[in-house]
Amino acid sequence: MTKRIKRLRQVEVTMQIKDEAFIRPPTEQQRSWLLNSALGEFVYDLQMLDELAKRFVPGAGHLRTEDRTQAVLTDEEIMEDWQIPLMQEMAIAVAQSHGDILEIGFGRGVSSAMIQDEGVRSHTIVECNDSIIERFNQWRKDYTDREFTMMHGLWQDTLPSLGQFDGVFFHTYPLNEDDLLQQIGKSVTFADHFFAHAAAHLKEGGVFTYLSNEIDSLSRTHQRLLFEHFSRIDMQVVKELKVPEDVKDAWWSDSMVVVVATK
Ligand SMILES: C[S@@+](CC[C@H](N)C(=O)[O-])C[C@H]1O[C@@H](n2cnc3c(N)ncnc32)[C@H](O)[C@@H]1O
Repeated sequence: MTKRIKRLRQVEVTMQIKDEAFIRPPTEQQRSWLLNSALGEFVYDLQMLDELAKRFVPGAGHLRTEDRTQAVLTDEEIMEDWQIPLMQEMAIAVAQSHGDILEIGFGRGVSSAMIQDEGVRSHTIVECNDSIIERFNQWRKDYTDREFTMMHGLWQDTLPSLGQFDGVFFHTYPLNEDDLLQQIGKSVTFADHFFAHAAAHLKEGGVFTYLSNEIDSLSRTHQRLLFEHFSRIDMQVVKELKVPEDVKDAWWSDSMVVVVATK
């Protein structure tokens, strides 16, 4: 059995490989390199998490599991204000071509307004909640000279009828407990269930952005999932987010990575 141990003052990590055919390149030296770097990276990640965890807020302590598909929600229930700086960076990124933009989830219209501020050729929005559609109908009165296409329904139902875009902005939330388990419980980032759909509706060179749920860098799992559908990843860390002590969202850090994936 192959065994590696990494010891730090606070933690000891043991890796035991039970199958000697596992990670078996041509030479022993190559194998050692792969195993040592994997273990080294894991331990380094733990050290970073130790630092990052010190800055977490406690949060409200419970995740929203009630069905929100048609719920009439307050602004803060739709999207807490701490996310606004992320919306700004995501809007700038998605509208960089000033072309045809697809936005999934209208919410409070904060990001829609930011996308409009950037100046885009067309703006298609998908939204399932009737009361949010009413918000949109009020909101668009400030943009009488602009063209919008509102697709009223779940993206799962409406997306197939849509064509291709220069930018896709994805910002939904789990609509119920099932979504929560499927989309958050089993994934590295909430949006990964949408990666293939985003790529399918992007022109070559088009860009995709979404709420990454990554604190200070992208995990390798996350990068590999993106590279299944996209040719390039750009990212920036947005810092000093004003996440309240009793934040209701499942996010507790004062930074998040904004990702822009290019097809
Ligand atoms: C967090 S809000 C979006 C906030 C928005 N970016 C803003 O700046 O105000 C999420 C929105 O996605 C919508 N939504 C969630 N799941 C959806 C789905 N499967 N299809 C269409 N819309 C969805 C919700 O109704 C909600 O309006």
